[in-house]
Amino acid sequence: GRVCLLYSGGLDTSVMLKWIQDEYEAEVVALTINLGQPGEDYDVVREKALRLGAVDARVIDAREEFARDFIVPAIKANAIYGLNYPLFTALGRPLIAKIAVEIARETGCDTIAHGCTGKGNDQVRIDGTVATLAPELKIIAPVRDWKMGRDEEIAYAREHNIPVKGGTETAPYSIDDNLWGRSSEGRWIEELDHAPDDDVFQLVTRPEEAPDEAEVVTIGFEAGVPVSVNGQAMDIVSLIETVAELGMKHGVGIVDHIEDRIVGLKVRDIYEVPAAAILLPAHAELERLVGTIHQNRFKPGIDQQWAYLVYAGLWWEPLRSDLDAYIDEVNRFVTGTIGMKLYKGMARVVTRESPNAVYDAQLATFSESGGLFSQQASPGFIELWSLQSRLAWRLRNEDRG
Ligand code: ARG
Ligand code: SIN
Repeated sequence: GRVCLLYSGGLDTSVMLKWIQDEYEAEVVALTINLGQPGEDYDVVREKALRLGAVDARVIDAREEFARDFIVPAIKANAIYGLNYPLFTALGRPLIAKIAVEIARETGCDTIAHGCTGKGNDQVRIDGTVATLAPELKIIAPVRDWKMGRDEEIAYAREHNIPVKGGTETAPYSIDDNLWGRSSEGRWIEELDHAPDDDVFQLVTRPEEAPDEAEVVTIGFEAGVPVSVNGQAMDIVSLIETVAELGMKHGVGIVDHIEDRIVGLKVRDIYEVPAAAILLPAHAELERLVGTIHQNRFKPGIDQQWAYLVYAGLWWEPLRSDLDAYIDEVNRFVTGTIGMKLYKGMARVVTRESPNAVYDAQLATFSESGGLFSQQASPGFIELWSLQSRLAWRLRNEDRG
């Protein structure tokens, strides 16, 4: 048979590339997908795959599709899981698996292989996508099956001339990254009482070392989609990269997160999300400005459901696209500009501007000039508004002796 292996170039998937050839006597097509991992050299990854015996090694640049079809909907949904996880991994997995299905079919593979463990969310997202889009394809996840620990893996790598980078004394962090953020897991991160060591932060400047001068960045939105930075129009990939640069410089987007995985485990993740930590609050602010009180009370429940489905690996679930229909309708009006002040780890809204703001300075003003708002009507409103509450209060408090 032939196996399409989702290949990162790291230790696990490199060992897998050999192991699949030996264990299954199968040919391996290595597939590497560029979702905007900073600093990755894809030529090196590709050559490594071929050197380890892959019959074919493909690199697919999916940054634009990822930004347009996955990150943008997440922005419109103000998508956060738990306290502050902007879902970058969870958004990437269904796309990675979808591309794997396409390449597997194109190259005549009957199986897709990936490097997820049996303890995580990613296996659910990838297996679930493949099972949905291509039920005819088999899935293997060697890390779930083989009995190798870290030391055996390194020994296997040595034995098969697989280069192990970064030495073997300290196990590296387990990293996943793309355009929308970076996660680190493992090592001391598993000790909940261990405050972050500096070496975990590879993107974001430590806030203590960020510039003493604050910087204001303005983000322009059209129908919920970020389209410009400081007045300059940009395609979505460049825009996210540009905002990420600013966030990194100012120490913005460090998240130390305890997370409830869908497989029951509670784990700790260190996230660096410099773009999301600026773009999500900017979008949410603009959306609230153009929404009515009723829309604004309703939308967070929709958003939370959307984020949960995506976290839980159910990207292809029809409820997600049902919710998108509502989310898109709301976002038709989310046009305008938000200014965010960046300063030593913080990103704070400082200015707002929108042709669709449900805001009238004439009405809201404290000065008497307006006259459009009828203050004389307020006492009557209050009387009726509080009617039931007053009756109930009286029932509970009257003397029944
Ligand atoms: N906890 C996050 C999630 O479930 C990040 C997972 C990171 N994945 C990885 N293979 N390192 O989405
Ligand atoms: C893994 O266990 O494969 C990575 C973490 C996750 O999937 O949640």
